Amino acid sequence: MNKENETKTSSSLLPGAYRALELNSFVLDYKQIFLREVLNVEEPPCDLYILREGLPYRLHEKNIVLNNQTMRDWVEAGITKIFIKAREHKSLIAKQNDNLRTNTRSLSVGEPFEKARRQTALLASHLKFFYEDTSNDELLSLLYQSVRSFAHFLTDHMKIHHMTYSDFARQRHHYIHSQPVLSSLFLIGVLKQARIFSDKDIENLFVTSFFKDVGMSCIPFEKYGQKELDVADKQLLVNHAQNSVSILLNRIPISSNCFKIIENHHTFSTLTRELEHFTPEQPQQLISGIETTLISITDIIAAMISERPYRPATSLFQSLDLIRELISNQHPQEFKLLITYFKNYFTKSKAN
Ligand SMILES: [Fe+2]
Repeated sequence: MNKENETKTSSSLLPGAYRALELNSFVLDYKQIFLREVLNVEEPPCDLYILREGLPYRLHEKNIVLNNQTMRDWVEAGITKIFIKAREHKSLIAKQNDNLRTNTRSLSVGEPFEKARRQTALLASHLKFFYEDTSNDELLSLLYQSVRSFAHFLTDHMKIHHMTYSDFARQRHHYIHSQPVLSSLFLIGVLKQARIFSDKDIENLFVTSFFKDVGMSCIPFEKYGQKELDVADKQLLVNHAQNSVSILLNRIPISSNCFKIIENHHTFSTLTRELEHFTPEQPQQLISGIETTLISITDIIAAMISERPYRPATSLFQSLDLIRELISNQHPQEFKLLITYFKNYFTKSKAN
């Protein structure tokens, strides 16, 4: 333990009032982040801390190489959240911005799966950065360009989708940051299989799907771990689609149809139906076509087969059963397409 840390740890033994002041200063000076936010940052531009006896203890010194094995060891030891000095947060984001920019520009160079693995991790981290700062145009523009290039890359590398999905799911990003990546990854395969969309269409719909949930940023983060939400919270959740449109309108170059899709992407969700008293037969009145159906349904399947803090993951079979209930009568073609795609995805792809 170095001098600075020795001093701080021993001060935890001081009388209550002094300690309260110290803790107050800690809350103001430090920011908690997920450990994975420093993933791929070879030399973190900020000191990394954990809490010991309620006070910060430096785990890693800034500008010193941090390798992935050390990070794996920390995760093994149960460290998934760390602290950094709040004033240094911007330098960490800047470093990750550079990483995302570099990986995006070099997607076509090197081993495709390694590129995809890095890109998915960076996109999820950047969604978190953006949710914390939705007025940041520079960040939005970087995210938009990176997502668009990734869509193009994925349409050219269909064989790595399943591997990328499995690897990304194992990274265990918080679900509000991972869900858009997972659902968009499924979507691109479904759209390709449909054989009615051009590569440009697929790119646009991937971007639409990725950004559809940015309105989730309007909801306090702690709400996402709660098992039970009251009606007001549920309404807030349902409104996220409209909030996504408000955040993105006139800021990213997607068509009005894409905005319409974002607005209606929860048409089929159980929560929307619960709050607005829909039956499974009614939603088709609201949606604008096959694109909305495919984006909504891949989103539902991606969510159902993933674990949440308040419920376990359901099986693919159960999720497809719900989809049958929701769309098989009104959208038989889309239903057939989705069933075929997902059954193949989790059987044939796995065998490859
Ligand atoms: Fe959503």
